[in-house]
Amino acid sequence: MTTSYWAAGTALTSPPLDGDAECDACVIGAGIAGLSVAYELAAAGLAVIVIDAQGPGAGETGRTTAHLMTAFDDYFSYVERHLGHQAARQVARSHAAAVSRMEAICAAESIACDFRRVDGYLFAESSDGEDLLARELEAAHRAGLEDVERASDVPTGKVLLRSALRFPRQGQLHPLKYLGGLVDAIQRRGGKVYGKTRAMEVSDGHPATVDTASGARIRAGSVVVATNTPFIDRFAIHTKQAAYRTFVVGMKVPRGSMPPSQFWDTLEPYHYVRIAGDFDPDYQLLISGGEDHKVGQADDAGQRFARLADWTRQRFPVVDAPVFAWSGQVMEPVDGVAFIGRNPGDANVYVVTGDSGNGMTHGAIAGMLIRDQITDRTNDWAELYDPSRKSLTAVVEYARENANVVVQYADWLGKDDGVALDAIAPGAGHVVRAGGRHVAAFRDADDGLHTFDATCPHLKCLVQWNSLEQSFDCPCHGSRFGVDGSVLHGPAKGGLEPVDVTRDDQRHH
Ligand SMILES: Cc1cc2nc3c(=O)[nH]c(=O)nc-3n(C[C@H](O)[C@H](O)[C@H](O)COP(=O)(O)OP(=O)(O)OC[C@H]3O[C@@H](n4cnc5c(N)ncnc54)[C@H](O)[C@@H]3O)c2cc1C
Ligand code: FES
Repeated sequence: MTTSYWAAGTALTSPPLDGDAECDACVIGAGIAGLSVAYELAAAGLAVIVIDAQGPGAGETGRTTAHLMTAFDDYFSYVERHLGHQAARQVARSHAAAVSRMEAICAAESIACDFRRVDGYLFAESSDGEDLLARELEAAHRAGLEDVERASDVPTGKVLLRSALRFPRQGQLHPLKYLGGLVDAIQRRGGKVYGKTRAMEVSDGHPATVDTASGARIRAGSVVVATNTPFIDRFAIHTKQAAYRTFVVGMKVPRGSMPPSQFWDTLEPYHYVRIAGDFDPDYQLLISGGEDHKVGQADDAGQRFARLADWTRQRFPVVDAPVFAWSGQVMEPVDGVAFIGRNPGDANVYVVTGDSGNGMTHGAIAGMLIRDQITDRTNDWAELYDPSRKSLTAVVEYARENANVVVQYADWLGKDDGVALDAIAPGAGHVVRAGGRHVAAFRDADDGLHTFDATCPHLKCLVQWNSLEQSFDCPCHGSRFGVDGSVLHGPAKGGLEPVDVTRDDQRHH
């Protein structure tokens, strides 16, 4: 696995839950979404338990670039066109409120996480991009972001960006230091945070219950599933979002050579850039992301990192060679808006998913929205983010995304890597055909071969090898599995099934 700049310098750990427990609210998942919800509920006086299969920040929040944006990565013009003017205003208001809320929490809880306000620039380099900027400026104003303005000759450390929109007062922080501060604040209010505690089943009811892999059961007035993608339903939400892998390089820049600021371009997929903070006494780190692909549909990370570094060097020539490179996963909802609220069909179970490139602020929005829902307060954003919302546009878009998923089901019928088991090198994995089935095979450094049924336990797609992160990834809904077969990312609940494979099995096929 790759390591992010944040995780390289900050480790958060929590002890496992060691027996049955009861609380007002049990939050599953200790990323930005889960800990934001837990913090808001604890601050509202509820007894809160948070559990995480690994530990706080071990998921995508430890891999983010943490631009806290009012600029919406699916564009206000898109939201306005497909969901309406009112929805665009609520998107703008809720993300602005999220940045302010995170700033206020940092101040109130004395969280030293390098939070700062910076200008953000959406810039164009083509005539299509120019058109998009023109549309987006108008739409941002109509959505209530009246201070967004045209900017030209924006300095990026020697190169000038000729055509851009300036979004003032965006936020940024160190995501793991922020999560560490939330954990402390939750615990100061009597809340409990447990790591190495995987939830396996959630049942709605009074109380709702969470059964963990160790056998411990938590009874709670409400349960919030904030596991990036929920493991509790098979279809309801997974058919409305698609999983993407995105790539980041961290490059040194001489201190003071660039003003602290954020940048995004108008390409699809887009690039995203910010100054992260201190690298050493003479340098800061510029982190640049992009080159996304659908999960499990490419395994060429080296080329993607090289393209990303080149793209960055051309626009930000003050950068030095890359010193960090990592990747992460993002769930893209069909209409660009996250799913936050009651789980479809449940009374006391809530979900947060569909994070997209605005997942940090979506997490903070979830904190405020789910707090209000659990404590019976009115929240104007509830309808916009409702996981059960239906819109014609979403269905049309869904059909397009789903067509791509169907291709993956077709893959299940026949494709393997065409590699012999013997030919798998130490440290490498492959999907091979052996003993009449598809096998996910990994050879460890001591030449030991580990073999699993390559069928994803979620809805039976065929997993693919991800050589960068050393995992088997499912192209259908983004489940990921470690080289020991264990589940790393949902929606799958459990791991790949171990199988015995002999060389004869492979030959006789
Ligand atoms: C490279 C990259 C760059 C990004 N850049 C930005 C950005 O600039 N701005 C922005 O707003 N967003 C950005 N995002 C998106 C944002 O970072 C994510 O959306 C957000 O961090 C997701 O938070 P989360 O709490 O939903 O999930 P996670 O952080 O993944 O947390 C989920 C937690 O649930 C736990 N878990 C899973 N299953 C179980 C289970 N069964 N039982 C118990 N625990 C479980 C996991 O261990 C994990 O810790 C980026 C994402 C990536 C990958
Ligand atoms: S994640 Fe749904 S089939 Fe694999």
